Amino acid sequence: MSATAPAAGHEPGPEAGKRDFLKLVAGASAAIFAGALAWPLIDSMEPSADVLALGSVEVELGPIPVGQAITVLWRGKPMFIRHRTEAEIKAAEDVTLAQLIDPQTDADRVKAGHTQWLVVIGICTHLGCIPLGNKPTDPRGEWGGWFCPCHGSQYDTSGRVRHGPAPLNLALAPYEFETDTKIKIG
Ligand code: FES
Repeated sequence: MSATAPAAGHEPGPEAGKRDFLKLVAGASAAIFAGALAWPLIDSMEPSADVLALGSVEVELGPIPVGQAITVLWRGKPMFIRHRTEAEIKAAEDVTLAQLIDPQTDADRVKAGHTQWLVVIGICTHLGCIPLGNKPTDPRGEWGGWFCPCHGSQYDTSGRVRHGPAPLNLALAPYEFETDTKIKIG
């Protein structure tokens, strides 16, 4: 974003201020805020007003109830953000690497101190379908994570593939915690 200097003899007025404000609004980063009561799970196949495609996206985690997940679009890709239950965390941590198709510990897939949050790219690693499991009515498969409706791959509560044909775990999204209840993806 480049700033434009005012022409000679013209001081910045209300219109210039308005333009600057619009530039700020159009910046690469945006925050997503949603009321807890008005935030059912977002259908991963139908991006809505709550879904933005931007260079980086800030997401308020507070409205996401325990046991539920949302989808946020980031750079054209669905990001799954799941608020895991204690049982789901334990199930993910108790798995031995020998049980896994694509061995990776749960600790390597979440942020220390924030293990209740799993943030992955919601694209099946087989042929790129979007797995089901974010809506309460969705099938989540035998391991309680996500189920891919295209060819039946299943993922666990850490997003690791547990049943093929998908060869790899759901990829981790690039994100950081800005506060205990807000992340920035990208
Ligand atoms: S695309 Fe998911 S199982 Fe084939």
